[in-house]
Amino acid sequence: MSKNNNDISTDGLTFLEDGEVLYDDLYLLSETDEKGIVEYASDSFLKIANMTRDEIIGQPHNIVRHPDMPRAAFKMLWDDVQSKGFWTGYVKNARKGGGHYWVYATVLRSVDKNGNTKYVSIRVKPSREDIKKAEELYATLA
Ligand SMILES: Cc1cc2nc3c(=O)[nH]c(=O)nc-3n(C[C@H](O)[C@H](O)[C@H](O)COP(=O)(O)O)c2cc1C
Repeated sequence: MSKNNNDISTDGLTFLEDGEVLYDDLYLLSETDEKGIVEYASDSFLKIANMTRDEIIGQPHNIVRHPDMPRAAFKMLWDDVQSKGFWTGYVKNARKGGGHYWVYATVLRSVDKNGNTKYVSIRVKPSREDIKKAEELYATLA
């Protein structure tokens, strides 16, 4: 991150020159079905993703995937939520229309009243140090 005078702040978002977008919201939520199809997204998530509810509901969650994210991270996510019921990790997402944002995500497995498996992701803001570490680690992974 390189904050400087050319950064633009509006509606709780700050657009940095290097493409990163910072957000004021405390948490960003989404929920998927068993296959990772998005069934719910909070207003805060829609705002940072720059998507409408209609654009994201019913889509695979990889609709927000950033190409810098290694496949290994998502393999761990799916292995862990399916075997243990949870995963936590750092994720860089692509913002629709350009730019990206980092989250520290906790993904949990749950079962709805009809017995269907659901997954929910609760995302908070990682620290700058944690983002740097994740960037370095992910650069070494495929
Ligand atoms: C609840 C939940 C939330 C997810 N959130 C994201 C996310 O914010 N960004 C992302 O790239 N993948 C997310 N994923 C993982 C995607 O389902 C997918 O595995 C990943 O984007 C890689 O997709 P691909 O291998 O089809 O390219 C989430 C999965 C679940 C179950």
